Amino acid sequence: MAAWVEEVPEEGFLSRKFLDKPWLLWRELDGSWVMVSDRCPHRFVPLSRGKFNDGKISCGYHGLTFNGKGECVFNPFSQQIPNNARLSTLPVVERYGALWFWLGDASLADQDSIPDFNFIETGQPISCAHYLMGVNYELIADNLLDLTHAEFLHVENFGMKGSLFSHGKQKVEVDDSGAIWNKWDTKDAPPPDWPEHLKREGITIDEALHIRWHAPASLALFIEINRHDTGEPVIPPMANPHILTPETQKSTHYFFTHGRSKEAEEHARKVFLTEDEPMLQAQSDAMDGEDFWDLNPVVMPSDVAAIRARRQLLKLRSEEADQREEVVAQLNFNN
Ligand code: FES
Ligand SMILES: [Fe+2]
Repeated sequence: MAAWVEEVPEEGFLSRKFLDKPWLLWRELDGSWVMVSDRCPHRFVPLSRGKFNDGKISCGYHGLTFNGKGECVFNPFSQQIPNNARLSTLPVVERYGALWFWLGDASLADQDSIPDFNFIETGQPISCAHYLMGVNYELIADNLLDLTHAEFLHVENFGMKGSLFSHGKQKVEVDDSGAIWNKWDTKDAPPPDWPEHLKREGITIDEALHIRWHAPASLALFIEINRHDTGEPVIPPMANPHILTPETQKSTHYFFTHGRSKEAEEHARKVFLTEDEPMLQAQSDAMDGEDFWDLNPVVMPSDVAAIRARRQLLKLRSEEADQREEVVAQLNFNN
């Protein structure tokens, strides 16, 4: 995912870095989206420092002007357009209020591989949010895939007073779309300290805490808390995207949604930025650039989903490297 649609200014562009490279996104007059390199091929300054007009970006240094296809359409010095005055482009499409791009071979871009986030548009009214977190995306995916950390790191906000351990059952599943699920289901458990009224009523609850992961790092969290006696919801069922796109090795665009209210926004900010992020940063510092597997991590049953996701990524990376080798071998053979 590159951005929420609403992050891109009308009649303007959004500049954002993905996997170490700067890109520009804008909407064409026909409503389609484009993504072009944010680096002028002349002296390599960011084009985002230039002027945007009518679907074209003019470099703020010497005026070369490019359209959404990456073509140079104006050279202030001559009628002639230099041959290599071209910007790289990436396929990008809009779905579920978000923009999705493909960094690989453009001919392999497959819109059907975008995971199902239909609930973003059909569920409760929400606000879209984006944070830049200063850690590698795999550490954030690990964090989301093992929500037992809420019992320690988010005790006040999400803690269930240890009921995950005393009343919960964990299941890890892979569905037809290839997604890995980590499902915690708690039955007949004492309620958490929030919401207040449950304590007064003296009831017990059933909770479903289910998280879904699609490669490379598109996650969705589904939470239901119901009264154990009647099955009635204690809070409205929640479904939230948690979508991660690396900015660099050590920073990640984190896309999620929260309820419309100011409190919901502050709550999310508190949990992610004052509880998760400092812990993940400290983790990243402690790992000091060493590979996760080389450090020989302790693996507990609660880690199964996160470990499977990491293994799947390793497999995907090695398949991609093999394909690259095949292409290189083919090229060498043909030459
Ligand atoms: S650096 Fe862009 S036109 Fe010279
Ligand atoms: Fe967390």
